[in-house]
Amino acid sequence: MNIKNAQFMRGIVGTNDIINDVKAQIAFVGRSNVGKSSLINSLVGNKNLARSSSTPGRTQQINFFLIDQKVYFVDLPGYGYAKTSEKQRDKIRKMIIWYLTYSEIQHKKVVLITDAKVGLREFDIEMVNLLKDQEIDFFVVLNKVDKLKQGEVIKIVKDTKNKINDERVGVITYSSKNPINREKIIGELFN
Ligand code: GTP
Ligand code: MG
Repeated sequence: MNIKNAQFMRGIVGTNDIINDVKAQIAFVGRSNVGKSSLINSLVGNKNLARSSSTPGRTQQINFFLIDQKVYFVDLPGYGYAKTSEKQRDKIRKMIIWYLTYSEIQHKKVVLITDAKVGLREFDIEMVNLLKDQEIDFFVVLNKVDKLKQGEVIKIVKDTKNKINDERVGVITYSSKNPINREKIIGELFN
């Protein structure tokens, strides 16, 4: 399976008509700078679709990309970046929680992304618990594995599975520099 067409639709910071669209929504969630926007670009094969940057806090809105006219990829701002102001962090946290819990989206799935070098941190565990509570279908991507040795990859996968403690939740390693698991992720998204 391949993605043929992807286009930016709009960025929102609160209630908007697009939330009520009946198309399925797949949201990319995680701490700042873990590579959420880059993963979207890598999956759709367009480096410039979602804006990515080495400066954490790049994505400030909830950005909607329409994929092959049938589903939305939703690029969320990153949570927990220490260098943004307390006020801004709080605003982003509320925006993410609003999107995941209060907005009445028909069908949604979440990709929880983390840096493979770091694994799941406190905020990620909170997110895992929120997703479980809300019964939202999700899986985890351990991103930027190009920075790790093979042995470290095996260790972090095991560690992450232990932390999630639910065998239904998949854990997939990824690197946009060497996207060997691209098909696997796309398969998970559209299954
Ligand atoms: P926010 O929007 O700030 O929350 O960040 P984000 O999670 O969207 O991260 P973004 O995609 O902007 O990428 C952050 C940095 O990580 C950029 O400098 C990317 O080039 C880099 N990056 C993303 N994916 C990979 C990867 O697979 N490997 C490596 N080595 N770097 C990556
Ligand atoms: Mg981003």
